[in-house]
Formats: sequence, structure tokens, C-alpha cells
Amino acid sequence: MYQYTDFDQQFVRLRADQFRDQLQRWQTGKLSEDDFRPLRLQNGWYVQRYAPMLRVAVPYGEIASRQLRVLATIAREYDEPEAEVFKTAMEGQGKLGTTFLPKNCAHFTTRTNVQFNWIPLSKSADVMDLLASVDMHGIQTSGNCIRNTTTDALAGVAIDEVVDPRPYAEIIRQWTTLHPEFAFLPRKFKIAITGATEDRAASAWHDVGLKLLKNAAGEVGFQVSVGGGMGRTPVISTVIREFLPWNQIMNYIEAIVRVYNEHGRRDNKYKARIKILVKAEGQGYFDAVEEEFRQIVEVDGGPHTIPQAELDRVAACFVPPVLADLPDVEPARLEAQLEALGTERPEFARWLARNVHAHQNPQLRAVTLSFKRVGQSPGDASADQLDALAALVDKYSAGEARVTHDQNVLLPWVHGSQLFALWQEAKALGLASANVQLLTDMIACPGGDFCALANARSLPLAEAITQRYQDLDELDDLGEIDLHISGCINSCGHHHSGHIGILGVDKDGKEWYQITLGGSDGSKLSGAPGAGKVIGPSFSAAEVPDVIEAVLTTYRDQRQPFEPLIDTVRRVGLEPFKQAANAVRTPAPVPAAA
Ligand code: HEM
Ligand code: SF4
Repeated sequence: MYQYTDFDQQFVRLRADQFRDQLQRWQTGKLSEDDFRPLRLQNGWYVQRYAPMLRVAVPYGEIASRQLRVLATIAREYDEPEAEVFKTAMEGQGKLGTTFLPKNCAHFTTRTNVQFNWIPLSKSADVMDLLASVDMHGIQTSGNCIRNTTTDALAGVAIDEVVDPRPYAEIIRQWTTLHPEFAFLPRKFKIAITGATEDRAASAWHDVGLKLLKNAAGEVGFQVSVGGGMGRTPVISTVIREFLPWNQIMNYIEAIVRVYNEHGRRDNKYKARIKILVKAEGQGYFDAVEEEFRQIVEVDGGPHTIPQAELDRVAACFVPPVLADLPDVEPARLEAQLEALGTERPEFARWLARNVHAHQNPQLRAVTLSFKRVGQSPGDASADQLDALAALVDKYSAGEARVTHDQNVLLPWVHGSQLFALWQEAKALGLASANVQLLTDMIACPGGDFCALANARSLPLAEAITQRYQDLDELDDLGEIDLHISGCINSCGHHHSGHIGILGVDKDGKEWYQITLGGSDGSKLSGAPGAGKVIGPSFSAAEVPDVIEAVLTTYRDQRQPFEPLIDTVRRVGLEPFKQAANAVRTPAPVPAAA
């Protein structure tokens, strides 16, 4: 995996020192609240419903065991609210009818970062020092700048890969980091890049989506799309260039962002994302980008053209690790061995089929550890789990893991002969649920339990649905289903792209939930990307698990053999689902006779 250079390391350490100084000046009254706010935000420190929230950048999701250990220390020693804060929070939760508020844990996010929900600001500088000690930070995890570029968790190991996207993601990271021209864009800006035939990065839902491909002559280039996003106006991005030579990508992104920076709306934050500009201007925007690109290349001399030597230098940082001392097993023999083990232990066979992915090296596999289980929020890892995870990553995956878009963790370098041992250890840690891509492998935002912007809570719904669907046979029978939950229209839980989407809405100060069906992130199973459609007026929290069950029962009744939910919804339309869901609705009380 990519190793930071001395320059990067010094840069991150100096940033931590600078933050300590800013914090101290705020604590001693030399910086006002208003002056300190942008400084903390620029380092990933938000203030949420009850306490501060820290977002730590994990560039393109790659994370090392030594970094996981530091996250474990932070979770154990710092993700602990002050007593008064926790008391107030619990009282607040009590009013909402729950006392569930996980602490001492890290949270894996859909944009493959890590968040903490409880660290007191007074300890924030110590946390930044700890992070800097393993090359981590919160730069560009907040604010109207270019955020962490995401990619495919299987990058570099996927069997359907055309080109490894990680060197490009790293070059984009270096180029965007503190880019002076793009530090104050009209709104946040997100780039996703994929290099495989299957889009596992939801690229169409991003401000810029990049797909690496090869043309007929075998040359590498990008299909460039622009203007995707969720929020209150869900939009799928539009292809602006079918094939851009790879070495022009920085010049071209510069043109895209520059035109957006100049013309994007700043008068209304809901209309400030690039998707609104692209929708409003259409071809006019595309022409302006092409003209800007021409200027950058022809007048300015293409200052960001990537030299082959630079690509080679960065790509060399992503060479596969040497897995010493492991047997050289013939692939067919390995398959036979795994099959035999699976026959003895059907539970293992199920895990192999669900959580283990083919690898470019036939001796190896990529393994998803599931962070979706009863009693913990989707994507949450306790301090002990993080330490144990780090040990697994060292023992079985050459010290490297990936945070996935689905809020799990992937081990990309597991030798086939070690799968059984890994499964046993992961199982003991509660990380081996064979539920990857099934209903309970859901995405959920923190919602009203933590987030100050929420209309409703997401986590109790995630828990209620997880509890109801614990039978793996039933889950397998239901097949691959993307369930996505957001606590408000900001769409952090990607509800628009869920086959089933749940959105928290506020009516008369109470929590309600709108259900959508048929959304897609653009992956192979989900098909063409698009937003789900609402199936009727919103439901109460108590009704939602029954509504989900009604939807799933309808699917079972309507499906053709081997047809996944998303295809049944597309084939039969919303009507049968609407009827079943609305039958669940608790009838309004009959008014008393006069
Ligand atoms: C609790 C703290 C959080 C706050 C205050 C917050 C706030 C927001 C806001 C205001 C937006 C909309 C921005 C816009 O459209 O211009 C947004 C978008 C987004 N957030 Fe969060 N968020 C939080 C946590 C998370 C988490 C935990 C995740 C991942 C699980 C996440 C993932 C996203 C994503 C993917 C989007 C982009 C949706 C789109 O394409 O428009 N956020 N967030
Ligand atoms: S979707 Fe809304 S409730 Fe959920 S984290 Fe984002 S802003 Fe908060």
C-alpha cells in the first residue's frame, strides 16, 4: 500500500502542531468561537447533537494494521464523553424512547473514512498527534473542498479489473490536498474512480465519476462523468468525455472544478452542488469545461499532464505484498481443499460463498469481514474489535485492509490455505456473518442518535430489521438486497440508491419514514444507476419493520426463479408493493361519536 513520503509525514505532523496551537488559543479566549469553527472543521472536527464528531480521512479506503491499532487506542481512551455530556445525551435519548448510544468505537463510513462520535474537544489535539504518528489526519474531511477520492475496495485485486485505479486516486489526493484555488468551492466536491468492469464505487452518484478503460488500441483513458449527487435533488451524473487519455486527467478535473467554482451557485446551499449547475446549464457547462481544458492545455501548456515516470513512481507503491512462507498450492487443489472443508462445515461454505471474493492471484482471496450484526450499529467497531482486526490484518492480509463503501472491512491479500483459520478467528470476534450484500448488510447514517441535522433516527431501525432477519437461510432466500437508511434528506445513508431506501422525515416534530423502492448504485446486480421511488405516505418507526417484511413477502410472491428484488420491482412496478406496505399502516383512531 502507498507509504507517505517524508514530505507527507512532516506535513501531517506540522498540521497537528498547528491545530494544537489553534485549540489552545480558543481555550484561552484568544480565538472566538466563530474564528475557531472553520479551523476545527478543516481538521475534521464537527460539533454534533451531543458532542463533537471527528472524521478521519482514509484515502481511497486503504488502511494499515498500525493505523487500525491507533484507531483502537483513540476509541478506547478518547471516544468517551465527559460525564455531564453523557448524562445530558442520555436524557435526550430517553425523550426519544431509547438509551442506545454506542461509545468507545470507531465508525466506518460509506465514503470509506472513519468517524468518532464522542471525543471531547479538549482532547482533540492529543488525538490529532496520535493520528499523525501513523500518517493520518482529518484534512479535507469537511468543508467546501475536494473530499477523499473513493474507489473500489477490490482495487488491485479484482478479477474484472481493467486498470488499477489506486495510483490515479493517490495522484488526485496529492493534487487536491489544500489546493488553494479549490479550498472554498460553492459546496463539497466528491470524486469516485473505478477501474473494473463492474462499478463498485457508486461513481454515477458523485460530483465527478471516473471510469478507467482501454480503447481499441489498448490505450488507457477515462470515461469522465460529472454532476451526480443525492440530497434533496438526486441526479445521476452525465458522461462529459467518453475517452480522455489518462495523462490528461488532472488538467481535465481542473477544468471541471474551475468552471464550477466560477459559476456554481453560492446564494443557496441546497442549490450549490455541481449537479445543479450541470442540470441548469447542460451543454453550456460541458462547452465551458472543454474551452477551459483547451486553455489549460494549449495556452498554459498542460501543467498537470501526468508524466509516465510519475505514474510509474506512484504505481510502484502499490505492488502486491510478498506473502512469504505460504505454500504454493495449485488452484484446482486449493478449490478441492476448500470444498472439502465446506462439506464438513456448511457454515464455512456459506461464508466462502458470500464473503470471499476471487483474486487476480489464484492463490489468494479477498475477504469481507462483516460489521453488520445485532447489537452494534452498521459499520461500528469497538476498540477491542479494532485491535483484534489489526491482528487479523497482520496475520492474514500482509498488514493491509480496506474500508468498503458498504461500511465493512475487506482483507485483500488472504492466502487460500488460510481461509479456514481466518474464518474461525473472525467468527470468534463476531465478524464472520455470512451476510455480505444481503438484507442485513445495510448502509445507515448516524441519524438522530448523533447527528444534529437529522429528522429521525436511523440506528434503531437498522437494529430492529437486523434482529428480525437473523435466519441466514431466509436471508439467502431473499437474495442480494441493498437496504440504505438516511436520517434526513442530506442522504448520507444513500437511501436514494437502495433497492429499499428508508428516509427519516419530520412531521409535527415526530419521527416518520418514507420508503422508496428500486434505487440503484450502478453495480452489476443493481443495474443502471437511479433513484428509488416513494411507495406512499410515510410510516411510523414502529411500522417500518413490518413494512419491510410486507415488501419482502410481496417480492417472494411475485418473483420469478432466481430473480433478485431489484429486478422484480422493475418488472412488476411499485403497485403490489405499495398495497402490501400500506396494509401495514396502523389505522388512525376512529373519532369518538358526538
Ligand atoms: C453526523 C455527522 C454528519 C453530518 C453533520 C453530515 C452532513 C452532511 C450533509 C449536510 C450532507 C449534504 C451536503 C450537500 O448535499 O451539499 C452530507 C452528504 C453526505 N454525507 Fe454526511 N454527514 C454526517 C455523517 C455522515 C456519515 C457517517 C456518512 C457515511 C456513513 C456520510 C456520508 C455522506 C455522503 C455519502 C454524502 C453525499 C450524498 C450526496 O451525494 O449528495 N455522512 N452529509
Ligand atoms: S443523512 Fe441527515 S441524519 Fe443522516 S448523517 Fe446525514 S445529515 Fe445526519
